[in-house]
Amino acid sequence: MSQHATETPSPASISALTTRALEELTALPDAESAEQWRVNYLGRRGHITGLLRSIPQLEPERRREVGTQANLAKNTLEEALARRVRELAEAELAARDALDVTLPGRPVIAGRLHPTTQIVREICDAFIAMGFSVIEGPEVELDHYNFEMLNIPAGHPARDMWNSLWVDYANEEGQQPMLLRTHTSPMQARVMEAQEPPVRVVVPGKCYRYEATDATHEWHFYQIEGLAVAEGITFANLKGTLYEFARRVFGPDRQIRFRCDYFPFVEPGVDMSISNFVDPSTGKRPINRDEDWIEIMGAGMVHPRVLEGVGYDPQRCTGFAFGMGPERIGMLKYGIDDIRHFYRNDVRFLRQF
Ligand code: PHE
Repeated sequence: MSQHATETPSPASISALTTRALEELTALPDAESAEQWRVNYLGRRGHITGLLRSIPQLEPERRREVGTQANLAKNTLEEALARRVRELAEAELAARDALDVTLPGRPVIAGRLHPTTQIVREICDAFIAMGFSVIEGPEVELDHYNFEMLNIPAGHPARDMWNSLWVDYANEEGQQPMLLRTHTSPMQARVMEAQEPPVRVVVPGKCYRYEATDATHEWHFYQIEGLAVAEGITFANLKGTLYEFARRVFGPDRQIRFRCDYFPFVEPGVDMSISNFVDPSTGKRPINRDEDWIEIMGAGMVHPRVLEGVGYDPQRCTGFAFGMGPERIGMLKYGIDDIRHFYRNDVRFLRQF
């Protein structure tokens, strides 16, 4: 039995005990002394516990009153202790050095440009350095610019080269058919309509085709169109400009190759390929293992009908145009094996750039 059980508890003595305990509690200097206090009042041999244990020995008519009071005191002291312990902990923390140099620093989370944006900008920069300016155009385009003005009239078999996502078909009210542009070439006509020669522009932008996707095809992708029209421009200018572009973007070690190709809005037409990427660490080609060359763009001399269509005189002006896929160029430059990575938003991929 606790020594305190010998006193006969009364409401007055309990209240005096509580007051004394609370006074002591307020005066406690630290967390350790608070523990000492807890043992002294609320521990197994503490004052309050002793008080509660002594209740069964009281005369029955006093038990209820004293019991209630003792329980109340216990609750009060427990709550006061919890508060005091919190106070003491906070005070201790505040008393320490305000600057804890051993804490780990907060990481600076820097955003970065999407790899497509980086490549598009890099390519545009190469052409800016050669005197081109950069413009953009609408992604929802009129059939008129996407096809008609490019020497691809309705019913022309070459329309099959671009599987289109139509937004509006022609209807009785004379509404103009509209589609998501299948290439950036419509901007050739728009630029020439808007200005007199000489013209030297590149046009980066999103294009869309109604196509199945695979490792080298996406149904939405970027293109960068180029157009240079002036008096006396020849095919040699086309080759020289694109050679210089390839050297700037891929460095001196990669080779380029031109082959004949057909696009209704150029004559003659070519495609340009670049020698496949060989990963220096493995000596292997991460993309299109069997291919020595990868096609990255179509190009050619602007067709006289296109020049006529925008009111230019094909007897005086000539020009070249090209259209390339920056994602494919990024794949070749960095050895990315699947074009679909560009649209998956997987941070493990994006962080590498
Ligand atoms: N617009 C063509 C395509 O999407 C590429 C191209 C552009 C070809 C300009 C020649 C000249 O395939």
